[in-house]
Amino acid sequence: MTEDRKERQRDHYRAPDPAEGPLTTDQGVAVDHTDDSLTVGERGPTLMEDFHFREKLTHFDHERIPERVVHARGAGAYGYFEPYESCAEFTRAAFLQDPSVRTPVFVRFSTVQGPRGSADTVRDVRGFATKFYTSEGNYDLVGNNMPVFFIQDGIKFPDFVHALKPEPHNDIPTGASAHDTLWDFVSLQPETMHMMMWLMSDRAIPRSFRMMQGFGVHTFRFVDAQGRGTFVKFHWKPKLGVHSLVWDEAQEAAGRDPDFNRRDLWEAIEAGQYPEYELGVQLIPEEDEFNFDFDLLDATKIVPEEQVPVRPIGHMVLNRNPDNFFAETEQVAFHTGNVVPGIDFTNDPLLQARNFSYLDTQLIRLGGPNFSQLPVNQPVTPARTNHRDGYHQTMIHKGTNYSPNSLGGGCPALAGADGYAFSHYAERVEGHKIRKRSESFKDFYSQAALFWNSMSDWEKRHIVDAFRFELGKVAAVHVRERTVEQLARVDYDLASQVAQGIGVAMPEPGANNHKPQASPALSLENLRGDGS
Ligand code: HEM
Repeated sequence: MTEDRKERQRDHYRAPDPAEGPLTTDQGVAVDHTDDSLTVGERGPTLMEDFHFREKLTHFDHERIPERVVHARGAGAYGYFEPYESCAEFTRAAFLQDPSVRTPVFVRFSTVQGPRGSADTVRDVRGFATKFYTSEGNYDLVGNNMPVFFIQDGIKFPDFVHALKPEPHNDIPTGASAHDTLWDFVSLQPETMHMMMWLMSDRAIPRSFRMMQGFGVHTFRFVDAQGRGTFVKFHWKPKLGVHSLVWDEAQEAAGRDPDFNRRDLWEAIEAGQYPEYELGVQLIPEEDEFNFDFDLLDATKIVPEEQVPVRPIGHMVLNRNPDNFFAETEQVAFHTGNVVPGIDFTNDPLLQARNFSYLDTQLIRLGGPNFSQLPVNQPVTPARTNHRDGYHQTMIHKGTNYSPNSLGGGCPALAGADGYAFSHYAERVEGHKIRKRSESFKDFYSQAALFWNSMSDWEKRHIVDAFRFELGKVAAVHVRERTVEQLARVDYDLASQVAQGIGVAMPEPGANNHKPQASPALSLENLRGDGS
């Protein structure tokens, strides 16, 4: 099936072509004059009764909505996804069953830290968020271009983002990671070390959104038709390969063309050079959950591909630019909680926090509970809910709006046992209510060291230069020193090169400074952590 149901739906929402008729008011009344307001005489006061003038100004005054609290700057495109073969063995997700079925998608790429008007080529993480408009409802894979994250538990996200964003007193810096609060937080939260290695590497300055990987980051769960779960990590690989800018190029691009990445995406699609990405999965049987020397629920860890190879399962092509940036790219609302039958969550505490945060923020950013009715957010399947009313309601619902219901009319039927309804994976959990993270989350340095050791000499040089540049801007000497102490736990040589460049003393070797911390043995007791 190649007909694009999303495209058909969008046609339904297109505003009238301005070239095909006169200018009108919001009420559809034709306007004869829009350059002079209605006044008493040629030089007199403006009249309140000039409804066209009032409407024009009022609408303009209300054009802005809040930008995203993170990932404010982005660029999007439509396209499609096709699986290579049926994945029925692992998941019953309808869009992963049949290679002849094309699922429409919308993708938004973004930076994280800067405001909407900031430059594209800053050192930062890039968002890679995909909305699949599947035949069973919307599925959002809300990923980044790096496979790990800064923190392990979402309760730290506000702290982390406050530290990352410009400093509160002067709103500096608006587009870089070089400042005291970020490094203060990082050096006090060593779980950030692995991600900081990625952030200081060339991965943080992609050449193009077309040449960038994407990762789901968390361990998710596939569920098959029999209800059997398999852990899954998602990977997008660009067909053009992964390419970065070097630091000087990034600086120059930011000066000459702050829209460098979004222009590249737009122009490539206009020129018919459609960006293409392969979707791959790392699949881990549930019985292997404890066979790793890290915790699968810890989003600061990768599953090394030598241990679990990435299996390609399909590809995505981006072949249409949006018609309207605000209506589509700005108003799109991704949410990790948007899942379809066959894809489910794990207890990763970062993922669980995200499952709360996205809907919550969109309620304010998009002005109330009806934003899923916006064209870019609407599923291509009918949404039959008992939800009613609220700001920006655009549906005309008929009939009753509650369940159970014997009076008839609009009460939606519940799906039968035909496999089409979402039912949460029946994972067995038990334990005491505690605020304590499992010991299996406590190795902060091994994978940071793995990353460093996997770099070539010139890649290492770039990383050292980046640490020197960023930390060199930090005023608080104790923050510089503490960061170097943390780096020494990743690699002593890395730390001493950075220390030299920023004029701080190296910590004494020893006291585990130059060795990764031993990873605690993984066992069920350790993983539960509360003795339950
Ligand atoms: C955007 C929260 C971690 C990827 C956002 C937004 C919030 C948020 C509030 C703005 C959404 C909007 O206004 O529509 C969080 C929280 C996190 C977290 C609380 C941790 C607990 C992550 C991680 C990733 C990620 C680990 C990647 C795997 C994204 C992306 C966007 C985004 C790609 C932009 C979506 C778009 O293009 O509209 N996040 N986030 N976030 N987040 Fe997260």
